[in-house]
Amino acid sequence: MSADDPTQEVSSLVAAGIERIAGSATSEEVRAIHAELLGKRSRLAELKAGMRDMDPQDRKDLGAELNRTRIELERAVDARIAELASEERRVLLAAERLDLTEFQGHVDPGHVHLVTQTWERLEDVFVGMGFTVATGPEVETDWFNFEALNLPPSHPARSLWDTLYLDTSDLPGVGDQQLLLRTHTSPVQVRTMLRSVREGDGPPIYVVCPGRTYRQDTADATHLPVFHQIEMLVVDRGITMGDLAGTIETFTKAYFGAELTSRLRPSYFPFTEPSAEVDISQPDGSWLEVGGCGMVHPNVLAACGLDPEEWSGFAFGFGIERLAKIRHGLGDIRDLITNDMRFLEQF
Ligand code: DAH
Repeated sequence: MSADDPTQEVSSLVAAGIERIAGSATSEEVRAIHAELLGKRSRLAELKAGMRDMDPQDRKDLGAELNRTRIELERAVDARIAELASEERRVLLAAERLDLTEFQGHVDPGHVHLVTQTWERLEDVFVGMGFTVATGPEVETDWFNFEALNLPPSHPARSLWDTLYLDTSDLPGVGDQQLLLRTHTSPVQVRTMLRSVREGDGPPIYVVCPGRTYRQDTADATHLPVFHQIEMLVVDRGITMGDLAGTIETFTKAYFGAELTSRLRPSYFPFTEPSAEVDISQPDGSWLEVGGCGMVHPNVLAACGLDPEEWSGFAFGFGIERLAKIRHGLGDIRDLITNDMRFLEQF
């Protein structure tokens, strides 16, 4: 490199600098090389300062070369910085990447919860027996949950249900209707009868009503404060207690298998007369109570706008968790809500 030929020296200084820039690893390094080459104390600055002592032609040549190489150098700096930035982004993205296909084939995709499976199977069985499915709200009025079901406000049987009432004092528009979480699916009977009168020509009605129900109860091996029931309502002409017993027995065989059987024990419910408790035989020969049933009380038919002289019907309400307990031999129904995968995965 000759000090006698400054133009030549500029070219080689810049060419070496461009090579270093291309090999640099970070944008800080690139900027440092750039400053080192063009800074006040750099050799290029010194050569530039020497221009004033040169003859015009040499000065012109050197000036042109300094301009050309400065532009070349700046392009190299910008290009390398852009290259490093995209490389840094690529590394960062690779590190933070979520591979959504990574676990395919290795992870259990999950399955329907046993309570939902039971609910769906029950619907299938009853639809197969010719019933349709009806639903109603989980928040009910006192009238639907109790009064229309022959349970006036002072009725002592109300204490059979530990009701969760809603405080609606700061909910505008609710008025003085007492709202509650339904304690059973029986209010759906009332809604179904009223709808059949309002929208059609009344009965015949053959429906099942599955749904969630609530009671102010402490959970134990056979009770949950939030649980599920499936209600049945039949209203037609000439319906008898024999139809009720036969329907329950047909259901028992269809849902549990031919070896299991049902029995009715006399009982009391305000909305049915006569009333009975329903037991299903367990595989070990003992009996488990699954719910109540009976002939729809004339007061209930009348409250729903049906003439008890013309229509008769039967109803039942079963606990869905109880049915699952028998069918799957569960020990403690609290296992259904504790979300222990070792339990849930068995079904
Ligand atoms: N609703 C009752 C309860 O939850 C169960 C029941 C009894 C339902 C008799 C009925 C019935 O439809 O006829 O305790």
